[in-house]
This record gives sequence, C-alpha cells and structure tokens, in this order.
Amino acid sequence: MFTNASRIQNNVTEMNSLSKSKTLLCVRVLDGFLIPAPYYGGINSKTWLYGGMQPVHVPLFSEVTNEESHPFQLTVEKLETAYQRAKEQGIRVRALILINPHNPLGDIYPAQLLKECLEFAHRYELHVIMDEIYMLSIYGDSTFTSILSLESLPDPDRTHFMWGFSKDFGMCGIRVGILYTRNHAVREAVNQLAVFHGCPGPVQHVLRQFLSDREWLDNVFFPTNRRRLKEAQNILVNGLAEIGIPVLKSSGGLYVWADFRKFLKSQTFEAEMDLWRKILDGKLLISPGKAFCCYEPGWFRLVFSDTVDKIYLCIQRLQQMLLDKTDETVPISSSPKENECTELDDSISDSYINTSVDDASEGYSHLKKIAVF
Ligand SMILES: Cc1ncc(COP(=O)(O)O)c(C=O)c1O
Repeated sequence: MFTNASRIQNNVTEMNSLSKSKTLLCVRVLDGFLIPAPYYGGINSKTWLYGGMQPVHVPLFSEVTNEESHPFQLTVEKLETAYQRAKEQGIRVRALILINPHNPLGDIYPAQLLKECLEFAHRYELHVIMDEIYMLSIYGDSTFTSILSLESLPDPDRTHFMWGFSKDFGMCGIRVGILYTRNHAVREAVNQLAVFHGCPGPVQHVLRQFLSDREWLDNVFFPTNRRRLKEAQNILVNGLAEIGIPVLKSSGGLYVWADFRKFLKSQTFEAEMDLWRKILDGKLLISPGKAFCCYEPGWFRLVFSDTVDKIYLCIQRLQQMLLDKTDETVPISSSPKENECTELDDSISDSYINTSVDDASEGYSHLKKIAVF
C-alpha cells in the first residue's frame, strides 16, 4: 500500500486528508450510515456538509452484560437493533462506518467481530467504510487485523478502506489521505470531486521518498514510535490510577478513554461540561465524551502522544484540580438507563438518530443538524 500511496493507482485515490475522502465517498451513498457511538465527532460534520448523511448511532455502554466481553463492546446484535430502529423511522441506512483501531476507545476489533460486521453489512447491502487511520499506532497486546489482510471479503465492491498520514506519521499538517476501493463507480466519483482536494505534486514527491525508505521505517521509525507510545500510555494510565481514574484497556491510537464519572457533580452532560471547563481553566485540554457522541456522561479522551514531561505535568495538574472535590459529586447510577443517554435510547426519539453533538472546534453550531456540545 505505502509504495503506491503517492499517486493515483487502479484502486487507490490519494487526497488532501482522510476526512475529505470519507466525505466524498459518502456522497455516493444516501440517507444514513450506522456508526458505533462513541466515535470521532469530526465524521458528523463532514458527512453532513457534503453528503447530507444522517449518523445512525449504535450506542455502546460501559456496563458489561453477559454476551459482552468488555465495556463499550460492539456486537452484531447492536448493529442489527440500530439498523431496525432506523428503518422503523423511515431512514434508509446505506453504510456502516467502522474505526479500527477505534477513536476514542483505543481498542481493536478482533478478526472474528470484523468478519461478522462485514457479513452483517453484506446482508443488508451496506457499504462498509473502514477508517484505519491509526493502523500503525499499535502498542498493546491485541492483534490488529486490517480489512486489507483478509483473504476474502463478503462484499468487495461495497468495502472501502481509508488511511492517512496524520496519525501514524504525525503529519496532520500535510493533509494526505488514502482511499482504497475496488468499486469502479465510487472511484470515478471520488476522482471527479478530488479535483478540489488534490494533493500537490511536490508533497507527493516528498512522501514517496519518505515511504521508499522501508528499512528505516521498519527498523527504526515504527519500533521507536511503538515503544514511545507504550511508554507514554503507561505513564498516563498509572498516573490516572493514582488519582482514582480508571481507563478502558486500549491497544491502539494516541489516547486513552478515561472514566471521570466520580468527579461529576451530577451524572449529566451539563456536569460533564462543567468539569471540562474547570479542567480547561486549569490549563489542560482534554476531550469530553459528548464530543464523541458518547451516551454516558463523565467519559473523557486524553491524548498521550507527547513528551513524558508533559504527561507528568498533566497528571500533576489533574491531581491539583480534582483532589478535595469529590464531596460535591453524586453517586454514579448503577444502570445507564437512569441517565439521559438512555432516555434517548429508549424513546427511539429523533435525537437517537440525529446526533446532537459534534466537535465544537469545527464551528458548525449554526447548522441545525450539526449541533455542538
Ligand atoms: C478516526 C479518524 N478519522 C479521520 C480523522 C481525520 O484525519 P485527517 O487529518 O486526515 O483529516 C481523524 C482525526 O482525528 C480520526 O481520528
């Protein structure tokens, strides 16, 4: 894949950023796309602005039930439930977007689950958009399976792979992303639109040279990157544990998904925002769960891909801010059904389907369907 990344090949279209390629791909499908929530909120604005696509959430919760092996576990049953609910509401679901390794959860889909999801999508003739933008930022024990490595796909014509330079190479500013699809019609459409989002020749030239040094990438860059990510993640997880903040076990990505529920004054998204503002005032920028359409208040994503000094500083500041504040908090409800997320879930309301949040940094608050947290 990488040696072909710097030019347009038979099945590969290279564009200025992954977000753009995902957006343009969605223009080919209509109405709604299934997406397990929480998820990277930037997807909402891009798919809505370009394609008028509705996110159809597949809500995931921290509470573990019998058939689930860990918190926020995705299952095909949950995909099925969300699909049927959307159908009842007259929403035509046309696609499934999966992020693997996941943002913000940091977990990796086991090969078996991946195959089951692909089978599910095939059953309903859904396009599958696989966002594997963190595929090389893996530091944990879990085995990562890219859809590119599967021997066969249930529906190759409707399965699309995406990757970009932003995360694995820390090159967000270079704005280059890759779409790999065997679907001729999608490729044609994206190539037409790519005229607005093309990647400049000199940038392609530099990236080609960079990628052609395979020996350095395999023997120096990737091992060093993995080692540093693991080290940084360990420091952060241990520091959070000392403050009494549990995190979800993660294996990939540049962040951890942390449970701040015990520090909320009430188990609501308003309280989550209050805590976020307080942490911001304390000079720490972390992301609240609402920005990822999480259905449970109190979860935050903390990025650790920084220097060790900064991570220690982060822990120190959190400690200062959060200690002695627990007396103001209220107990976490034992069941997510008691909080407002599940109200949305149970009532099958519009807001269950039309997400009410997006990343505020994108500044789309004036658009009705792209609300901000
Ligand atoms: C899962 C996921 N996909 C896509 C993107 C956007 O990537 P790009 O920088 O190529 O627009 C991000 C950025 O945070 C992301 O987390």
